[in-house]
Amino acid sequence: VIFKNSDDASIVIAQEIAALIKEKQAKQNYCVLGLATGSSPIKVYEELVRLHKEDNLSFANVIVFNLDEYYPMEITNVQSYHYFMHEHLFNHIDILPENIHIPDGTVSQKDLYQYCIDYELKINAVGGLDFQLLGIGRTGHIGFNEPGSHPNSGTRIITLNHITRSDAAEAFFGIENVPKRAITMGIGTIKKAKRIVIMAFGHKKAPVVKEAIEGAIKSDIPASYLQEHKNTTFVLDQEAAGEL
Ligand code: GLP
Repeated sequence: VIFKNSDDASIVIAQEIAALIKEKQAKQNYCVLGLATGSSPIKVYEELVRLHKEDNLSFANVIVFNLDEYYPMEITNVQSYHYFMHEHLFNHIDILPENIHIPDGTVSQKDLYQYCIDYELKINAVGGLDFQLLGIGRTGHIGFNEPGSHPNSGTRIITLNHITRSDAAEAFFGIENVPKRAITMGIGTIKKAKRIVIMAFGHKKAPVVKEAIEGAIKSDIPASYLQEHKNTTFVLDQEAAGEL
């Protein structure tokens, strides 16, 4: 779906999420959301906060699992995805703290393997993701599943691609400060979501969007694996759709 601009696109995505939360509420059920970071989802979160404040949208029945976190990373660090999510969403809504899950960048090296397995089990224990929101990196990554990621991969520690680290350099005041690794949900974890919405905005994303949507399904472009998912929508602005 191509929108004139990212604001219009974000409002429609937020409305879909709100409708799903309300549908689950009506059935006295909880709603399991997979959430993303980066600049792309900011306006979606802003709109969800607005719906909470002005339209009585409650997040009391919402359980969230974030896609990824840098490793190592303190949760109080302003560059952490923990900080980002609280700043843009969690601090402004009525979600219960025990329903927030974000990969923990402070886990010790020796506990990491088990930690990742447990993260995956927690998602499965609540019945899997009802909805997964995604952005896309210029390498074609989703979450932090860099090129080479296996289609059945689960939550794990990965090494960040140089392009990904250089894209993050500004936020970290220099590429040398960007962590070299991250914890991320896998392609397999993401693909198990019942519904996926992936956003891409701006002309810099146009080449990778073309590859992900029109190119071959291959591990060089992890987002291309979404072509195999039954209920995924790419939501683009006109710039990101420029090479389709
Ligand atoms: C980071 C995140 C991804 C995100 C990507 C794109 O790498 N781990 O989940 O999709 O950035 O970010 P942006 O939306 O700022 O372009």
